[in-house]
Amino acid sequence: MTDAQAEAITKYSDKFCLLSESPITPHELFSNSKEIIVEVGSGMGEATALIAEQFPETGFIAIEVHTPGIGALLIKIAEGELSNLRLLEDDATVALRDSFPNHSINAFHIFFPDPWSKVRQRKRRIIQGPFLDILANKLKPNGRIHIATDWQDYANYIKKVFLEHSAFEGGIVERPDWRPLTKFEGKGLRKNHNVTDFTYTLKS
Ligand SMILES: C[S@@+](CC[C@H](N)C(=O)[O-])C[C@H]1O[C@@H](n2cnc3c(N)ncnc32)[C@H](O)[C@@H]1O
Repeated sequence: MTDAQAEAITKYSDKFCLLSESPITPHELFSNSKEIIVEVGSGMGEATALIAEQFPETGFIAIEVHTPGIGALLIKIAEGELSNLRLLEDDATVALRDSFPNHSINAFHIFFPDPWSKVRQRKRRIIQGPFLDILANKLKPNGRIHIATDWQDYANYIKKVFLEHSAFEGGIVERPDWRPLTKFEGKGLRKNHNVTDFTYTLKS
């Protein structure tokens, strides 16, 4: 963690970070927002901050386990005066299951989830049936999940996991114009990785 990230955590956590042990009430946090979007694994928060800036009428909650990423995003929130973004330092699977009310979220963003590329590591991938059960419970009617990956084997895996899950419909989409190109994605593209975007919607 850099000094600036540590300083941002000391200075801004009280204002912008949520406490994972207490129940999270998205509709109270963003009572005037049109929609509420949760990002799972926001990393250093590059895309998160740019998207929050693009959609000031949407409330965003970014969940990330890696403390330096929380610090980096707090710096961006303070610099950009982003009042529509809150952070949660936690394992998204546990936090969503235990601390978020059901039917409270309009959409999830999952950008470039860790690919766990070795066959024996695949079970660590976050996109799995039980995780989709949690997301399905937390989404409002017609809620959606947007995913991007630059790992072809993970893209195939995502397609298969959703096909086997009865709650969602959708699949591969064109890269949406609102999703910014981040340094992380740029690195993948320079290695000739193919980026796949998916949108899945909760069936009615
Ligand atoms: C490959 S990085 C991508 C980060 C970012 N979305 C981007 O596009 O640059 C994946 C991120 O997911 C986070 N992560 C992995 N599992 C997580 C979990 N269960 N809950 C929250 N964050 C998680 C990691 O710490 C890491 O920052």
